[in-house]
Amino acid sequence: MKLLTIIGARPQIIKAAAISRAVNNLFSSQVEEHILHTGQHYDLNMSQIFFDELGIPQPNYNLGVGSGSHGVQTAKMISGIEEVLQQEAFDGVILYGDTNSTLAGAVAAAKLHVPVFHVEAGLRSFNMSMPEEINRILCDHASSICFAPTQTAINNLAHEGLTNSPAHFLKGHRRLVVLSGDVMFDNSIFFAQVAHDHSHILEQHGLIPEGYILATIHRDHNTDDTKRLSSIIRALADISESDHIPVVLPLHPRTRVKLEHQHDISQVQLSKLTIIPPVSFLDMTQLEKNARIVMTDSGGVQKEAFFFEKPSVILRPETEWVEIIDHQAGLIADADYQRIVDAYAHLVGHPVHFPPLFGDAHASEKILQTIINYL
Ligand code: UD1
Ligand code: UDP
Repeated sequence: MKLLTIIGARPQIIKAAAISRAVNNLFSSQVEEHILHTGQHYDLNMSQIFFDELGIPQPNYNLGVGSGSHGVQTAKMISGIEEVLQQEAFDGVILYGDTNSTLAGAVAAAKLHVPVFHVEAGLRSFNMSMPEEINRILCDHASSICFAPTQTAINNLAHEGLTNSPAHFLKGHRRLVVLSGDVMFDNSIFFAQVAHDHSHILEQHGLIPEGYILATIHRDHNTDDTKRLSSIIRALADISESDHIPVVLPLHPRTRVKLEHQHDISQVQLSKLTIIPPVSFLDMTQLEKNARIVMTDSGGVQKEAFFFEKPSVILRPETEWVEIIDHQAGLIADADYQRIVDAYAHLVGHPVHFPPLFGDAHASEKILQTIINYL
């Protein structure tokens, strides 16, 4: 069976590592995996570093689409993916998450009647102003199999009528909705010890375990609104100063570009933070495992914080990963200065519990076995 994995943005490359590892270790006699990189992310430390470090096969295709408006970027991807799918016959495409690369893969494949397998299906923020919410809803509805990481995701899909369909969906197949667990959990469990053994990121920045805050900011909602961005930066800087604790901020290129052009944001506040370029996955894993607390607007980082039993302050108005909030392992603070400060104080002052919520670290195997049975 020949499958095309479509990736483009950093978190997808990382998620794809879990599936590629399972293909290589367990399913190599049944599955031939080809990889298409849209080129959505292209900096060395946003793309190639993960192929090198996580043992992902080099892409068979790289569309080199690069940055652009949503319409231009997505259109170039759809056109490039369509061309590949017309040149070479695939039994299905595997898509991850909710980026423009996900949407483009879903549109191109579904219209050519190539089955779409969506990993991380069913996540909903119920905030349609997020480009990701639009992407994930459209992708789920075009998918032959929705692989949901949590029961909440299964419930979200059911509310939209997406259940195991009795009727034919595509090429005589039914639509399936499968509770698979989370491939990110597979990765975090697999790489935790490797990160411990190989990463020197703590020593490089003079950090001690439990002695720093890890922060990330990249959501357009935060980066493209100076008031929100400066409120977050001010809160991080004040917490760092008042609690005598470094805040390490591996800076997403989107945020770097905005900070370079937004002169309203105080350089004094910024200088109180340990701002570093985006780091490799092993370095990030090591930073997450040893942080006192994580403050982030990233979907992936808030979840990895939970895997490593670190509380998180979520710098968004809502989250798709509601289980983290339900178990009070994370608090929503949005971009509100006082809520961020209060959430930090609360989380460092109270014991937090981290029940197993994201599967058994074998989601990738379950996903591949389901696809094999389906086709
Ligand atoms: C994208 C995803 C978002 C995901 C994030 C993961 C969409 C709509 N958004 O957001 O869901 O959480 O990736 O990181 O697909 N840039 C560089 N170098 C790069 C990549 C980007 O400099 O290698 C800069 C460019 O200025 C670009 C900006 O970052 O315009 C935004 O990149 P883009 O891929 O459009 O969206 P992200 O914000 O990265
Ligand atoms: N990540 C990384 N280096 C960094 C920041 C993040 O390797 O400097 C990893 C992180 O561990 C997680 C993924 O990137 O696996 C999350 O991606 P991101 O925050 O860009 O996107 P989101 O998950 O919000 O879509």
